[in-house]
Amino acid sequence: MTQSTAAPQSHEGAHAEPCIITIFGATGDLTMRKLLPAIYNLTRDGLLNENTVVVGFARRPKTDEQFRAEMLEGVNKFSRNKPTDMAVWEKVAAKLFYHQSTFEDAAGYEKLAQRFQELDKKYNIGGRRLYYLSTSPSEFTSIIDQLGNAGLGNIDPFSAKAWRRVIVEKPFGRDLDSAKKLNTEISHVFDESQVFRIDHYLGKQTVQNMLVLRFANGIFEPLWNRNYIDHVQITVTETLGVEGRGPYYEVSGALRDMVQNHLMQLLALTAMEPPVSLDGDAIRDEKVKALKAIQPLTKEEVCRRTVRGQYTAADIAGKPAKGYREEERVNPKSETETFTALKLFIDNWRWHGVPFYLRSGKRMPKSGSEIVIHFKNAPGVLFSAHDNKLANNTLTLRVQPHEGISLRTNAKTPGTVSRIAPANMEFQYEVAFGSYSPEAYERLLLDAILGDPTLFIRDDEVENAWKIIDSIEAGWAAGAPPITFYPAGTWGPPEADTLLTREGRAWTPLGS
Ligand SMILES: NC(=O)c1ccc[n+]([C@@H]2O[C@H](COP(=O)([O-])OP(=O)(O)OC[C@H]3O[C@@H](n4cnc5c(N)ncnc54)[C@H](OP(=O)(O)O)[C@@H]3O)[C@@H](O)[C@H]2O)c1
Repeated sequence: MTQSTAAPQSHEGAHAEPCIITIFGATGDLTMRKLLPAIYNLTRDGLLNENTVVVGFARRPKTDEQFRAEMLEGVNKFSRNKPTDMAVWEKVAAKLFYHQSTFEDAAGYEKLAQRFQELDKKYNIGGRRLYYLSTSPSEFTSIIDQLGNAGLGNIDPFSAKAWRRVIVEKPFGRDLDSAKKLNTEISHVFDESQVFRIDHYLGKQTVQNMLVLRFANGIFEPLWNRNYIDHVQITVTETLGVEGRGPYYEVSGALRDMVQNHLMQLLALTAMEPPVSLDGDAIRDEKVKALKAIQPLTKEEVCRRTVRGQYTAADIAGKPAKGYREEERVNPKSETETFTALKLFIDNWRWHGVPFYLRSGKRMPKSGSEIVIHFKNAPGVLFSAHDNKLANNTLTLRVQPHEGISLRTNAKTPGTVSRIAPANMEFQYEVAFGSYSPEAYERLLLDAILGDPTLFIRDDEVENAWKIIDSIEAGWAAGAPPITFYPAGTWGPPEADTLLTREGRAWTPLGS
């Protein structure tokens, strides 16, 4: 196993302060699957202050005991550490409470404020509050307004100890206008420095390692530009279909659901200039600059450089899989895309003329997320006999599964005949550093408690990403290119391949 030194943003030596975490939507799926297991694991690893209190806020009547029993079930089922260490769980449960109210009821927030005062006094919290909006986006404004009305929102920034922060789950709007409206509404109650917009992709090791890989190694940065890079591919795929989320997906589609956030974030981290420091805003400033350098697409560019696909019924490994239009609560004539592929350009000094190909889809043969940097070919002078077969060097950053990095080089095959074949140099997190791999939500919750915004998305990042997405949606709304179809369990419509093959390139198979 490899020896480690403290990495940037490692929070070594940082201490979590006491605080009250209030989860709005505490009886929902995300709380049970991710948030309580994250709080349990952070407690288990000794990363939270002993006086961390969690209040679950939702509509259904429930006692504290019932809520604790349900959350224990969630931890037993979904925690990465099994079996549950009951001594640790007891610590969490002792400071876990349930607050019943609707999001719209002002009286519910007044009672919440009273409860905060009691808990604050009992556990010496010092007025620190973290609000987690684990609800449908249609509820965000109502909760934020009510927090403001009850005096639970903004706070005197010069207050010595107290802080109030709010974590907002995606989606952040459904286009530029609605995102701006949401940002404005939030800003009436919280200052931008108090807002933590979560994209769980940014909590993953490889994504954080992008900064280390690019800026802590001497060998990559000199090559990280149009002179040496031919193109970049970003792939995020799922084997699952819409899984009962038809009504949500019908108004979202792959472009809004995946590209606007996860893929744009991966692209920004890949393309950004070196930040002046590792400070959260310095990094986010550079990400915004990269996003701003992507010109919104004209209708004609949308037609040439985007693909939208939808899965149809097919057999996957001998089992029948429904088509998207046959899914529950989906319009049988739906034009919603379950797959998209795009070719984007970042119009700046570093990346001028380098295509960034993005693709994301449901019901694909494999689930995974990868960024593949394709370097330009070496001059073929010496190996002209092999020229057609020489693969170009690629650097693959695997976000999931098996987070790691792989460098494809060309090597001579063993034997007397001079043959050249691709050979990969592999780095896998679990092999190099052991299997300790905190879930993204653990890292992000802890960062919010520590007040580190680096891995959260700023308002201008959201808005600049929407500008690009809106231009594509506008082209699609005008009917070009038309939606095309792919059988469930395949890599999308043929047009996605043509996007690259017509330029002499091809998608790198996921996990290769
Ligand atoms: N599920 C995931 O794995 C996942 C992953 C990534 C992101 N997200 C995002 O996380 C957010 C939450 O998702 P989810 O799947 O947990 O949602 P969910 O299962 O539908 O839960 C919604 C929660 O909101 C509460 N609620 C709804 N309306 C209410 C009202 N008027 N007053 C009080 N409580 C109300 C519900 O309480 P009652 O049950 O008491 O009615 C429930 O606790 C969404 O923005 C989603 O996009 C989810």
